Amino acid sequence: MARFKVTFLPDGRQTFVEEGETLLQAARRARVYIQSICGGEGTCGKCKVIVKRGKFKTKPSPFISDEEERKGYVLACLTTPMSDLEVEVPLESRMEGVQAVEDVVLKSELKVTPERCNPLSQKVFLELPPPSLEDNIPDLDRLLRGLRGAGYDKVEVDFRSLKGMADLLRDSDFKVTASLARTREGFKLLSLEGGNKASTNFGAAIDVGTTTVVAQLLDLEKCEVLGTKATYNKQARYGEDVITRIIHSEKGEGLRELQEAVVGDINQLISALCGEAGISPEEVTVVVCAGNTTMLHLLLGVPPRYIRKEPYIPAFSLPPVVGARELGLRISPYGVVYCLPSVASFVGGDITAGVLASGMAREERLSMLIDMGTNGEIVFGNSEFLVCCSCSAGPAFEGGGIKFGMRASRGAIQRVELTPDLEVLVSTVDGVKPRGICGSGMIDCLAEFLRAGVINRAGKFNEELIGRTERLRKGEDGLEFVLVWAEESAISRDIVITQADIDNLIRSKAAVYAGAKVLLDKVGFDFEAVEKFYVAGGFGNYLDIEKAIEIGLLPDLPRERFEYIGNSSLAGARLCLLSSEAFEEAVEIANRMTYIELSVDNAFYEQFMAEMFLPHTE
Ligand code: FES
Repeated sequence: MARFKVTFLPDGRQTFVEEGETLLQAARRARVYIQSICGGEGTCGKCKVIVKRGKFKTKPSPFISDEEERKGYVLACLTTPMSDLEVEVPLESRMEGVQAVEDVVLKSELKVTPERCNPLSQKVFLELPPPSLEDNIPDLDRLLRGLRGAGYDKVEVDFRSLKGMADLLRDSDFKVTASLARTREGFKLLSLEGGNKASTNFGAAIDVGTTTVVAQLLDLEKCEVLGTKATYNKQARYGEDVITRIIHSEKGEGLRELQEAVVGDINQLISALCGEAGISPEEVTVVVCAGNTTMLHLLLGVPPRYIRKEPYIPAFSLPPVVGARELGLRISPYGVVYCLPSVASFVGGDITAGVLASGMAREERLSMLIDMGTNGEIVFGNSEFLVCCSCSAGPAFEGGGIKFGMRASRGAIQRVELTPDLEVLVSTVDGVKPRGICGSGMIDCLAEFLRAGVINRAGKFNEELIGRTERLRKGEDGLEFVLVWAEESAISRDIVITQADIDNLIRSKAAVYAGAKVLLDKVGFDFEAVEKFYVAGGFGNYLDIEKAIEIGLLPDLPRERFEYIGNSSLAGARLCLLSSEAFEEAVEIANRMTYIELSVDNAFYEQFMAEMFLPHTE
C-alpha cells in the first residue's frame, strides 16, 4: 500500500499516511490540532485546510466556496493524499490559545478556611510506642490504635499496605506518616512512609469540560490555591460534542483513544502547575474531577454507549474512588481520583458542582442555575427541593454552526456594538485582531442587530438596508452582515454573520429559554418566582446579561437577580477537594435532584417553537 508524507504548515510538522487516510487523521497523528466539531463527518465545515503542493482526492462540500476551491481550500476530513503533500492550516481552522475562565467568587459561608479544611486526602504523623512484652499487639493493630488516637476511626487497610509494614515500622523507629483517603464509611490507608512527611500534601481540582480542561493545584495543608491552568480537551480531535465522542468511543480503539487524550491533558496541566509551584507531581495525592456524565465515563474508560440511547442510562452516577495509576494519571503512585456525582445522562457532575458552589441548595430563596453549552442544563429549587432538566441547545454558544464561529479563545470577538449609522465596534479575547466570533459575541450581535433594525423579530435580515450600508450584502450563503473587514481581521478575510448563523443562535436561545420555562411549569412556578439566577457557560469571562435578556435567552426580570458565575464546575471540585463535608453535600445534592426528561415532552416543543422570535412570541 502506498504511503505519503504530509507536511503541515506553518509549524512544519510531518507524518506519513497510508493511502485512503484523510488529512484530518494525518493531522491528529502529527499532533496538529484542527477544529473538527462534527468529528470528521464532513458536516461542520470547520476543518478547512489549504493544499499548497501535491496530488489529492477530495469530495465536494457546500462549505467550500468557488473562490476557496481556486485557492486550494479543502475539508481535511474529506481529503486523502495521492502523493506527498504540503498543507497549510489557516488560522481560523486551528485550535489554540485557550482562555482560562475566571473562577467563581464563592459566598463567604461556602469558603473553606484553613480551620474548616478537611481534605479528601490527608496525612498524619504518628509516633507509635514500640512493641514490648507488655504491649505486644500486632503491628497493624498498633497502627490502627495510633490512628484512632489521632481521630481516624474506621480505617480500611488493604493487603498491599500490609506487606511491607513490619519492616517499615521498625526501620523508622515507629515514627511514620500515614496517607489516608476519605471513603463513605471512614478512611482508607493509601500509604505509609517513614518519618514525618505530613507537612506537605497537594491535590488537584479538575473541570473536565467537553471543550476545555481546567486544573487547579492546591496545597491541602495550607488550604491554598497554588495555580490554575487550562487547555483544550484533546478529545476534540475526535469530535467536539459529546454525541460524536460517544460514537467514536464505539469504534475499535476509540474509547482508549478518548481516555488517553483527556488523561494526557490532565497530566500535562498537573505537571505544568507543579513545575511552577516547585513540587513534584508525585507529591499530589488526590485529584477531584467534575464533568458532564459522558466526560466522566470517558475519563474512567467506562463505555458511555447507553447514554445516547433511549432511555438514556449512564453506567454510574457516583463512581467508586479510583487509583490514579489505574487511569494513567502521573501523580503519587498511591494517589486517588474522586468524581463528583452525576444526576442523569445529560445532567452531570459539573452541574452538581455548580449547584454546590452557588450555594442554592442551602438557601430558602428559590434560585435557578442555567449552564449554557451544547447541552443546556437547568436546575431550579432551594433547600427543600431541586428539579433539573437538560435541553439540546446546539453548538452555537460555543461557536459551532456559525460560519466564523470559534470558542472563547484568543482573537474571538466577544463584544459587539453597533452605532446608529451601522458602524461596528468589536472587542476580542486578549485584545488582538479578530479571527472569529464566540458565543457572547453572537449574543451581542443579535441584540445589536435587533436594536438597529438590521434584523426583524423573526431574526431575518432587513433587505431594505441593502444599498444603504455596504455591510449588508449578498454573499455565497445568502444575505450576510460584515462585522470586520478583511484588512482589520487576523485572517485576511471579511468576518461575516450569515442568516444561517442567526437562525442557529435563535434555535439555541429558544431551547434554553423553553427548557427553563417548561421546567418551572412542571413544578407550578413561573419566572417571577425565581429570586436568583446563576448563569454559567462556555462564554469565557464575559456575558452581557442585558443583551441576553434582549434576545430572549434570559427572562426579563430585575437585573440584580442575575449573576454570571463562569466556571462553577471547577469551584465545586475545589470545594470537595478541600472539604469532605462538601463532597458529602455534593452527593446529597445529586440524590436530591429530580431529573425531568424534556426530549419526549410536547410542552417543550411547543414552547421551543414559540421562542423562535426575538425576544419571544407575544
Ligand atoms: S467538516 Fe471536517 S471535521 Fe467537520
